[in-house]
Amino acid sequence: MRTVVSGGVRLAVFEEGPLDAPTVLLVHGYPDTHTVWDDVAAVLADRFHVVRYDVRGAGQSDVPRDQAAYRLEHLSDDLFAVADAVSPNQPVHIVAHDWGSIQSWEAVTEPGAHERIASFTSISGPCLDHVAYWMRRRPTPRHLRKVLSQQLHSWYIMAFQVPVLPELLWRTVLTKRWPLFLSALENVPPRAGHPAPTMASDAAHGVSLYRANFRPRLSHPRERHTQVPVQVIMPTADRYATPALAEGLERWVPRLWRRRLHAGHWSALLRDGAQVARMVTELIDHLGGAPETRSLSRARTETPPLVVVTGAGSGIGRATAQAFAATGAEVVVCDIDEEAAKATGGHAYQVDVSDEAAMRKFADEVVARHGVPDIVVNNAGIGHAGSFLATTTEEWHRVLDVNLWGVIHGCQVFGRLMAERGEGGHIVNVASAAAYLPVKSLAAYSTSKAAVLMLSDCLRAEVSARGIGVSTICPGLITTNITRTTTFSGVDAAEQERKRAGATKAYQRRNFGPEKVAAQILRAVATGKATVPVTPEAKAGLVLARLSPATLRAAVRHS
Ligand SMILES: NC(=O)c1ccc[n+]([C@@H]2O[C@H](COP(=O)([O-])OP(=O)(O)OC[C@H]3O[C@@H](n4cnc5c(N)ncnc54)[C@H](O)[C@@H]3O)[C@@H](O)[C@H]2O)c1
Repeated sequence: MRTVVSGGVRLAVFEEGPLDAPTVLLVHGYPDTHTVWDDVAAVLADRFHVVRYDVRGAGQSDVPRDQAAYRLEHLSDDLFAVADAVSPNQPVHIVAHDWGSIQSWEAVTEPGAHERIASFTSISGPCLDHVAYWMRRRPTPRHLRKVLSQQLHSWYIMAFQVPVLPELLWRTVLTKRWPLFLSALENVPPRAGHPAPTMASDAAHGVSLYRANFRPRLSHPRERHTQVPVQVIMPTADRYATPALAEGLERWVPRLWRRRLHAGHWSALLRDGAQVARMVTELIDHLGGAPETRSLSRARTETPPLVVVTGAGSGIGRATAQAFAATGAEVVVCDIDEEAAKATGGHAYQVDVSDEAAMRKFADEVVARHGVPDIVVNNAGIGHAGSFLATTTEEWHRVLDVNLWGVIHGCQVFGRLMAERGEGGHIVNVASAAAYLPVKSLAAYSTSKAAVLMLSDCLRAEVSARGIGVSTICPGLITTNITRTTTFSGVDAAEQERKRAGATKAYQRRNFGPEKVAAQILRAVATGKATVPVTPEAKAGLVLARLSPATLRAAVRHS
């Protein structure tokens, strides 16, 4: 630890990482200390000179008594004083959270700030002047709703204007409950070192931050522009700062990236620190000359989603890929049949979904060439008919390899990538009404689809907190090529052809096109619906399966 003095206040400064690397300065919020950055710093310190400090009034830094000492201009002076001390010759990259971000905006919007600040990553803390202008916008009903919603989220700001009581509450009951509050509401496990032992007094002193700044800034806003490149990270489950606060920032910040992180106000740092570190690294690398990553360029403009569809050379897969493309999405298609995939359009790849190594390679290629997908449709599947006892072990393996393992591989390779990226997404698994309707002659097929339904339910429960939706599509009888390739147990080639022709005719008579399934898939992604039966018979079957499984079992016995 070293001490930097700013306006007579001694600030406790902590450094790690290579001294000759670019400096990243982390500014914490309220009621925190530099320890809130532990996870972020641990990752960044591999490549950067990471500096954190306890802001005035917190942790091991001095505690000025006078409320005026907590005004934004002094906090901004502190930031520049630390930057000058730790990186006198090179501008620093600032990453700031909550109140740390509010005070960093003050520094970043000072005239000439770009000479000392190379970039600013702001998490959950707006520029108060920008907020004041945002609130004064033309009062459309929609805008007023957003302002009201933000004010409701900021109830505590009003509460902190009440004299004495907030300090008293912090020093008595609140501090003890804080770790409990964080783990319950923010879903972060209790951890050593956080909150800091000085929490009770930090929280009490920090109330001055609110009292010294909110009223003057909101009632007399100043025009605050900046040339510093700014990345705003918006935690989607933030209880205090709504994404509306990042609206219209282009007016003040010409070089702006706005990105979402599926996390809460504190869990963004305490659970997803690695994601924040990655976002910061992407920006710093890009400003240093590296090409913009896909997620960074998405954060700058409204880039259409990247969609991956497996088994997209025919039927439901092809219709789904083309429906997404028609909405402007960038589409990656794969199929075991390369020519068929190419004929669908989009970026075409030849992949056998049942081959784990091939799926890993496919995912690597997709990430390298196009980025982490936003939507993945695990659709590839094959038909097989045969009663349980007639189905050979080989046939069981073939059906499960494609219909079940193909989906598992897709969910594994792309699900991991989506979870690591932290920006959410959607996985669609194409099962079948056979997943919940037992059919004697579809033993292996129904089993594979029932497993897909269950794995999707388990996966959804696991990844929903990361903003990743999972939908299972249960189509019913759809007119596609599946009947021409379906295999049958215990019959010779000629009999198989006859059965295929019969099934094809029956499905044609049913006349329910794959475009209708594709439309339901797009809808499921938009609404996040979990289980989607498509045809009327699939819908009726699901109702029956839920109401009276015994009836279904009796019916299938006598079928
Ligand atoms: N058609 C229906 O009535 C119906 C009903 C319920 C569920 N489904 C399911 O919908 C999905 C799509 O079927 P469809 O009807 O469009 O059939 P389809 O035969 O028209 O298309 C399936 C595509 O998947 C590809 N494929 C097969 N094995 C593959 C593998 N190992 N790796 C990569 N690609 C592979 C095929 O080459 C084909 O292009 C399947 O999972 C199927 O089980 C279809």
